[in-house]
Amino acid sequence: MTLDKMEKLSLEQTVSRSALVELEGVVLIEPVHRTFDQVQKFKARPDDLLIATYAKAGTTWTQEIVDMIQQNGDVEKCRRDTTCKRHPFLEWSFQNPPSARYSGLELAEAMPSPRTIKTHLPVQLVPPSFWEQNCKVIYVARNAKDNLVSYYHFHRMNKGMPEPGTWDEFVEKFMNGKVLWGSWYDHVKGWWKAKDKHHILYLFYEDMKENPKQEIQKIVKFLDKDINEEVLNKIVYNTSFEIMKENPMANYTKDFEGIMDHSISPFMRKGAVGDWKNYFTVAQNEKFDEDYKKKMADTSLVFRMEL
Ligand code: A3P
Repeated sequence: MTLDKMEKLSLEQTVSRSALVELEGVVLIEPVHRTFDQVQKFKARPDDLLIATYAKAGTTWTQEIVDMIQQNGDVEKCRRDTTCKRHPFLEWSFQNPPSARYSGLELAEAMPSPRTIKTHLPVQLVPPSFWEQNCKVIYVARNAKDNLVSYYHFHRMNKGMPEPGTWDEFVEKFMNGKVLWGSWYDHVKGWWKAKDKHHILYLFYEDMKENPKQEIQKIVKFLDKDINEEVLNKIVYNTSFEIMKENPMANYTKDFEGIMDHSISPFMRKGAVGDWKNYFTVAQNEKFDEDYKKKMADTSLVFRMEL
């Protein structure tokens, strides 16, 4: 047996998936739940920018766009570190294995201003200081079906996630909101409502795919930045799926070693709209649509499931 294989085997034996705990009806993993009191007490600063998403909605993509805007298109500066070190992942706390150790809180507290912070928290669990300080928030939402497919593959490749079960089981869990960070439906609706009260730019993955330049310009404006056409084009190019897939500082191949296995499914998987059609059976799709109508009846939010 090669050393590489032996290391892999021993990780499979030692890294077990975390237990799940519910907090106010929202599913969290145990290490995140354990530090949640401290997360609630987090002291946001007025110039913090929060990037909030339901997991797999295009967080990393948005983070790269934001960083490139903040660095005025300087690719080298954006490669100073990996995404999760450049932008602390607020609630993420993970101890084992040591190669995957991470504390978003520690990173954020040690970081000089201005900070850009990432969260997957539903709006009601965001630390109150972000609202008290009137921080800017960029929220990105992705249609439920593509979000679900992406989340399923992410569970398969990432031992930091709960066990996904079969595809069929995962679809059920997603529909019932019994997945990490809770119900997708409540998440996107909660943030949609919050945008009327707070400083929130609400974006859609599908719009970003269709017209990245236009959506990047919205972010530029929201951040009160001024960039020229050349820089804008550079940002569009360097934040495309194809370029980010090959960027080790953005594709998660340098982080969470031992818990992410890109050979099962790469972090930068397909980056497409409508991939759900390759996974949902006709029966699953009908059931999903019927349930979706009910769950989304009380919102003006509209998603595009294809382009
Ligand atoms: P897929 O699994 O559908 O490919 P997050 O960063 O929130 O975890 O989201 C990850 C999803 O966003 C993955 O979706 C990933 O491929 C996609 N993604 C990442 N960078 C992207 C980009 N530049 N353009 C389009 N999609 C991107």
